[in-house]
Amino acid sequence: MSEGLRAPKGTFDVLPPESERFLAVRETLTAPLRRAGYGYVETPVFEETAVFSRGVGESTDVVTKEMYTFDDRGGRSLTLRPELTAGLMRAFIEHRLHTGALPVKLWTVGSAFRYERPQAGRYRHFTQVDMEALGVDDPALDAEVVALGVQGFRDLGLTDFELLLTSLGDGSDRPQYREKLVAYLDRLDLDEDTRRRAEINPLRVLDDKRPEVQAQLQDAPLMVDHLSDSSRAHYDAVRQYLTDLGISWTEAPMLVRGLDYYTKTTFEFVHHGLGAQSAIGGGGRYDGLSAALGGPDVSGIGYAVGVDRTLLAVQAEGLDIGVATGVQAFVVPLGAEAKRLAVRLVGQLRQAGISADTVYGDRGLKGAMKAADRSGASHAVVIGERDLAAGVGQLKDLRTGEQIAVPTGELFERVRATVGA
Ligand code: HAM
Repeated sequence: MSEGLRAPKGTFDVLPPESERFLAVRETLTAPLRRAGYGYVETPVFEETAVFSRGVGESTDVVTKEMYTFDDRGGRSLTLRPELTAGLMRAFIEHRLHTGALPVKLWTVGSAFRYERPQAGRYRHFTQVDMEALGVDDPALDAEVVALGVQGFRDLGLTDFELLLTSLGDGSDRPQYREKLVAYLDRLDLDEDTRRRAEINPLRVLDDKRPEVQAQLQDAPLMVDHLSDSSRAHYDAVRQYLTDLGISWTEAPMLVRGLDYYTKTTFEFVHHGLGAQSAIGGGGRYDGLSAALGGPDVSGIGYAVGVDRTLLAVQAEGLDIGVATGVQAFVVPLGAEAKRLAVRLVGQLRQAGISADTVYGDRGLKGAMKAADRSGASHAVVIGERDLAAGVGQLKDLRTGEQIAVPTGELFERVRATVGA
């Protein structure tokens, strides 16, 4: 016997009824974006590899270890997107959106792929809701972006989450800070791999979770203490706007995100019920990304929320969202003639916007009534052979068990009036 095929390692299937929760999370996270004037975009699931190697950054684990990169049959190097921002920026540049009204506000939702070591909350295929506000460098926009992320989580009913916030400076102050950090790291006892990382991007060492490294970083210089006047003013303004919006945060001067493009405002949302993979979302400003991809010198800010992890957070807090409600009406026909009537009735009800279902396959009365109960319908229409001979169907209230005979010609209207209210 050949072995059964399974979903690839690190991936999973989302099946009913759990999938209803998944959809509800996705909808709830995106609704605030639509209300704030963000427009929906779709970009390809794969891009030229350079979009990510140049966009996300050569020092990141994402680019060096985690990308699904392959040559297509035409010999082009393509990569399954490990995140959605670089592709959106590629589209923004390609379609010259910067020549229109700014900021350009975009959102999307879809699959991302990273060859990571799978564990609870960390998968090789996952779903992100991503939003970006492009072309304007205004701290009020940073605050809007952060606030929309918070709103999505609040709308889901989540409370046990925290906003981590910092500023990573920009081209005017990062180089000097980098020098200071390199000088500090030089004096530490670090392995070769870590030294190599430090050479490409010393900030990444701050993010090293190993206790022996963390212990040596106690007195490391912090970017927030070395911000230029303009970066500091920007960060102060962002925090003022957030305060005005009633949003609280935790200062996180050691926060280094896993992607290289961040400048200035940088943030992460963590949930306290999730264990090691606690980041349910993250983002920030990326003033150099467009230029890195060959575009004009425009800034951007945005975030991505992990839908799968947010769903875990929703479960961790025991929230009752997206529970499948089932259909409103269920039709149980007995015999071939009744079945024709059932098919017609279900079709009419669905056309009228009422959710309805019936049985397929030869189920018998008992099996069919079980299916009716499982369907979640409040009412069933049972059409037996004797009923049909009498020109009626039985409209049954599945909650009380009461039933009444209704002439077949009136069934549609009666069901509609009963369950459609
Ligand atoms: P990120 O922090 O790499 O940022 O990912 C955002 C979120 O995606 C994470 O907080 C997490 O919830 C989810 N996520 C990431 N990797 C995995 C995984 N392997 N399994 C399950 N969930 C995962 C970005 O991707 C940036 N593009 C965000 C951004 C938008 N920055 C600016 N604009």
